[in-house]
Amino acid sequence: MDPRTNPYNPGAGLRPAALAGRDGDIQAFEILADRAERGLVGRSIVLSGLRGVGKTVLLSELAGRALERKWLVVQVEAEHTQPDHFSRALAAELANAARRQRSWLARVTDKVREALGSITSFQAAVGADGISLGFDRTPGRADSGNLQFDLVDLAETVGAAAREDRIGVVLFIDEMQDLTPEQMSAICRSCHRAGQAALPWFVIGGGLPNLPTRLAEAESYAERLFDYRRIDKLAPEDAATALTQPAAAQRVVWEPAATQFVLDESGGYPYFLQQFGKTVWDAAAGPDRIDLDDATIGVAVGQEELDLGFYSSRWERATKAEREFLRAMALDDGRPSRIGDVTERLGKASSQALGPARASLISKGIVYAPEHGAIAYTVPGMADFVRRRDDD
Ligand SMILES: Nc1ncnc2c1ncn2[C@@H]1O[C@H](COP(=O)(O)OP(=O)(O)O)[C@@H](O)[C@H]1O
Ligand SMILES: [Mg+2]
Repeated sequence: MDPRTNPYNPGAGLRPAALAGRDGDIQAFEILADRAERGLVGRSIVLSGLRGVGKTVLLSELAGRALERKWLVVQVEAEHTQPDHFSRALAAELANAARRQRSWLARVTDKVREALGSITSFQAAVGADGISLGFDRTPGRADSGNLQFDLVDLAETVGAAAREDRIGVVLFIDEMQDLTPEQMSAICRSCHRAGQAALPWFVIGGGLPNLPTRLAEAESYAERLFDYRRIDKLAPEDAATALTQPAAAQRVVWEPAATQFVLDESGGYPYFLQQFGKTVWDAAAGPDRIDLDDATIGVAVGQEELDLGFYSSRWERATKAEREFLRAMALDDGRPSRIGDVTERLGKASSQALGPARASLISKGIVYAPEHGAIAYTVPGMADFVRRRDDD
């Protein structure tokens, strides 16, 4: 069928035509926001899951909803290669969000002045002077240069100004597992303080499945601080919706056998549903039905595209030693591998010999540590890919 009208969008952070199966998570945010606007306390949210399950897309959806409520919205991505970058990005985005906050600029109350002053101080302290809010710094507020103190100050001052307006402040942080322990601790402290003072300052974080553990390691009370939501593959009925609804909007029907085939082949993972949806659509003769033959051909093409893109982009970044490591992991079929087992499979004397490869693969975002002494792929289906490669 016509690729020009293809409604599927495989790709990092690309909005799907049908955002399926996330109603519960959206609802959790809406309740948090409604409560905040009534002056009631709510817990910040952490979305965790493998790559390709739809965390970034969900963060964007929630950010859009916060913007519709005229909240102060800050969107940043953590970057482990440049930890300093985080504070600067935060300062710049906060300033930018404040600059767009019409209600504040129209009516500069004492609390607004203090909020804008502390954002200005924070910008200066971290060396992000790009955007000027046209306010004097608030001395002694958010200017220590230590994020653990400064973020608490920002929560207090910006949160107080927001509360006056019955809006909220929300920081969306993607790839949050890449923050340093100090940065995680700063985030926790700011939310903790906001909760104590009933200030509408929230963090919505997205990251790999080990993010909850990383947060708990940074601050022990983090376990109770956040509403932890696991973002995972879609349940069969939601996966079917993700696939069929975008087509139905164009009066194209998926035959049940075709739908079932793609559900099985994708395992319900959102990225794969978009990928297979796209290639099946392109492969189908049309004009208004997709049958099992179309699905079979389209999935084969889609699988090839995944191998050449989604998986290869990761494989190509791995060195020879790292690929050996990834191969040894594949024996566990996608379940987390014990480091001890990987060590043995590679014939090494001790797990220390694997330390550098492990660390490098983690920093490349290809694997993560689900728990102490274990290692797992960050993308679903990697074990099969590694085996497919070696069979070729
Ligand atoms: N709820 C959903 N329903 C259907 N497709 C989705 C859903 N969430 C994400 N996708 C699709 O999955 C792919 C990956 O989404 P993304 O947000 O980048 O995942 P992550 O950030 O978890 O790696 C994108 O192509 C997106 O369109
Ligand atoms: Mg993402």
